Amino acid sequence: MNKTYYTSKDKNFSLLSGDVLDLLPQLDIKFDMIFADPPYFLSNDGLTIENGKIASVNKGSWDKATSYNYINDFNYRWLSIIKDKMKNDATIWISGTYHNIFNVGNVLNLLDFKILNIITWQKTNPPPNFSCRYFTHSTEQIIWARKSKNIPHFFNYDFMKRINNDKQMTDVWSLSSIAKWEKSQGKHPTQKPLSLLARIILASTKKGSLILDPFAGSSTTGIAANLCNRRFYGIDFEEKYLEMSKNRKIEIENLNVLNDYRSKIDGFLDKNQLINYLSSEE
Ligand SMILES: C[S@@+](CC[C@H](N)C(=O)[O-])C[C@H]1O[C@@H](n2cnc3c(N)ncnc32)[C@H](O)[C@@H]1O
Repeated sequence: MNKTYYTSKDKNFSLLSGDVLDLLPQLDIKFDMIFADPPYFLSNDGLTIENGKIASVNKGSWDKATSYNYINDFNYRWLSIIKDKMKNDATIWISGTYHNIFNVGNVLNLLDFKILNIITWQKTNPPPNFSCRYFTHSTEQIIWARKSKNIPHFFNYDFMKRINNDKQMTDVWSLSSIAKWEKSQGKHPTQKPLSLLARIILASTKKGSLILDPFAGSSTTGIAANLCNRRFYGIDFEEKYLEMSKNRKIEIENLNVLNDYRSKIDGFLDKNQLINYLSSEE
């Protein structure tokens, strides 16, 4: 198999080009952690508000579903292949909204994963509701599960507590949507903020861990992984997003940018907390 689109100079950031359902079975690597931001299947021709203007909710043809069976079949297929690519003590995080998250949870149970938490990401700056017929949607859910019912997983409890003013971190995370500086190489329509991915990565991996994002998009997972001294593989079938991902990695090869981004990531008590923590990690 050679679907490698890009490997960085430091070999810590690799991109594969193609359909995850074709590529994953051929990938002979086991990962410590997976973060997946799969299609939510919310592209139903509806309208929303973006930057004060009316905009379509459609994200791309990859986000359209023909039926509930289609969503179920897709989630079952990628999750069953991915389970085989996880180390025995590995965990997986999957983001979603009501459009897909119930089905993802159901499939995880069918495949014998152990669900650990359902994180609610509360966006501090959600777009207003267009129709004024519902409460404003301001959250996304992220299911955290482990591969094995019996083999323990890694949880960085102490550091999560430390960044939460020395109180146990709860499963509700209040973090803003992406900031302007995160769009320096363009913007993916469903780009996640680095603050969310940094927290996920620091909570569930150690220095040098190998992380996979099977729906990489602009590779927020990979950029957060490398900013946190972890290694990354990403898969996407859209060349424009692979190119954006590559450019984001090249950008942080500049040490000034790398440290600037580390100091800007939200969710820490001060701008040096992440940098100090990373230098203390073995
Ligand atoms: C929700 S977006 C991920 C956005 C990403 N978290 C970020 O921060 O940029 C999902 C991505 O998965 C890709 N994708 C969807 N279905 C795929 C498939 N079957 N195989 C490979 N890539 C796929 C899309 O091109 C899209 O970029």
